[in-house]
Amino acid sequence: MSDRLDTLLHERRTFPPSAAFRRAATVRSKAVYQQASRQRLRFWAAQARELEWDRKWTKVLDWKPPHAKWFVGGKLNASANCLDRHVRTARRNKVALLWEGEPGDRRALTYWELYREVNRFANVLKGLGVRKGDRVAIYLPMIPEAVIAMLACARIGAPHSVVFGGFSAESLRDRINDAEAKVLVTADVGHRRGQLVPLKNNADQAVAECPCIAHVVVVHRERGTTDAGLAHMKAGRDHWYHELMDGADAYCKPAVMDAEDMLFILYTSGTTGKPKGIVHTTGGYMTQALATTRLVFDLKEEDVFWCTADVGWVTGHTYLTYGPLAAGATCVMYEGAPDWPDKDRLWAMVERYGVTIFYTAPTAIRAFMKWGTEYPKRRDLSTLRLLGTVGEPINPEAWIWYHKYIGASRCPIVDTWWQTETGGIMITPLPGVTTTKPGSATVPFPGIEATLLDGSGEEIATGGGFLAITSPWPGMLRTIYGDDARYRQTYWSRWDDIYFPGDGAKRDAQGYFWILGRVDDVLNIAGHRLGTMEVESALVSHPSVAEAAVVGKPHELKGQALAAFVILRSGHQRTGDLEDELREHVVKKIGAIARPDDIIVTAELPKTRSGKIMRRLLKDIAAGRALGDVTTLADPTVVAALKTKYEDEG
Ligand code: PRX
Repeated sequence: MSDRLDTLLHERRTFPPSAAFRRAATVRSKAVYQQASRQRLRFWAAQARELEWDRKWTKVLDWKPPHAKWFVGGKLNASANCLDRHVRTARRNKVALLWEGEPGDRRALTYWELYREVNRFANVLKGLGVRKGDRVAIYLPMIPEAVIAMLACARIGAPHSVVFGGFSAESLRDRINDAEAKVLVTADVGHRRGQLVPLKNNADQAVAECPCIAHVVVVHRERGTTDAGLAHMKAGRDHWYHELMDGADAYCKPAVMDAEDMLFILYTSGTTGKPKGIVHTTGGYMTQALATTRLVFDLKEEDVFWCTADVGWVTGHTYLTYGPLAAGATCVMYEGAPDWPDKDRLWAMVERYGVTIFYTAPTAIRAFMKWGTEYPKRRDLSTLRLLGTVGEPINPEAWIWYHKYIGASRCPIVDTWWQTETGGIMITPLPGVTTTKPGSATVPFPGIEATLLDGSGEEIATGGGFLAITSPWPGMLRTIYGDDARYRQTYWSRWDDIYFPGDGAKRDAQGYFWILGRVDDVLNIAGHRLGTMEVESALVSHPSVAEAAVVGKPHELKGQALAAFVILRSGHQRTGDLEDELREHVVKKIGAIARPDDIIVTAELPKTRSGKIMRRLLKDIAAGRALGDVTTLADPTVVAALKTKYEDEG
């Protein structure tokens, strides 16, 4: 974090919007900020009116800290907002999804076609006994059925819990059981870097220990692979998606949902070993999703919008599915790896579909930089007019590269700060009005109130502190599923009635925010959130491990990587490939995103006299930095020995 601060302190470049961009922009005047801050609730009510409501709300906000209700008494359906209202207009024939599979197969679904698929799948779910309020787990590759399944759930009022396809069987099992999902929607396989990902096999392992699951619906992604045994179908429990769809009625009346009815649960990592089920409701979430999609991405009818995030993460919920579809946009969706079959895959797709707005993560941008400019140069990127980033701090060097080589120095960049918990974008430029600075997410979106506080809650005007959100916002999480005490404790216990996101930030003299990174034991590995405790629990579940401490270390491409320090059980006979075995063990427990880069087997860990592991020192060791203050250590020789060992092995 301190390295980042040093870099940012020297960053002086500024990028005002061009006159041409400003002239055509949806928001052209800064007055929107003053209006929204003078009449915050009125601003959000105006945004909510961009949705279609079955019944209007009676009160914009009911705030009983830390619980908020937005658009009280309002009724609406998220799927009807993404589909029905468009098929009544000329958008009926507009392409909603431009999809490409990794092997090169393609599908384009118009709003009408997507509407029909969603209606039919909603009827399929009903036929399997799914009722309003029942949870449905979705474990799919990036295929149209993922979006169809989400919207079908929304249509019948069944909250979905999408689990990223890269998560292991055990991670899937824990998420299904925590949400007590009744149905699981999965696929036989997915494609990733030329390999088949055996989703159904993982799902089978998971579901074997999920008594709540009554039915599994399996999308036949790869016709012909079944015989090879890739998907074993269990009679009575498992059903082919296409077979159920064949008999399904093409219309399903959307359920009338209360603004505060749950739309979805999405699990994310926290500071304990157990992921948190973040609960989002309908009216507020949809309002913020639509408002930010329209205003941050300056969305126009003719745009082709590509958010590269997987549906398994919140970005794929808000900016691949709900936001752009509510706005009636044409969205690009891609199944596979960015370097398959070659490193120009994304740019080939930008060219093929004439993408105008492109939204990705800094970790991807750093990979593009490393691969070199020859790949984007091969393709015509002249349709692009706006670029975005999300998920982790972007280093100014990557920002400038993105601006120059992808945006041809013409496209504004929106660096958007938000979280699974916030539901939608919170701190961001508005591309037609904000002068951007590389590395800064700039200022809060209109209607969002953020500041910097110190530990005791004193406001910090300029300098570094904890990021804080000082008033409720429509897309905010409502609770942690099944654990409201943890909700209060995690987000609302640091200061009175102020939300604590867990990020450190700096504010400059112009009031711009520069997000520095997490201040808790949550890591950001290649834009994916991971709790150090989760990885530690995975490690100690291995029979040879007695104790483990996991920390993040800076990584050129991924932003952060994992370093694990492990103490073996006494009497354990060490084998040569133990480190690899432990890495694979973590992958099996959590998924490939949690594979530790470094595993250091040690006899001791640096501890305070009271026995607490000093992670700060482990971070210094992993980062190859000079050691910080060691005076509180029980045995200072431990850490010196560990540092030498790390340098030798690392
Ligand atoms: O640390 C912040 C970082 O990602 C965290 C949220 O992760 P997640 O819930 O997985 O959502 C990611 C996508 C919204 C934050 O607490 N983060 C997100 N966006 C940015 C960021 N850090 C710096 N700049 C950003 N633009």
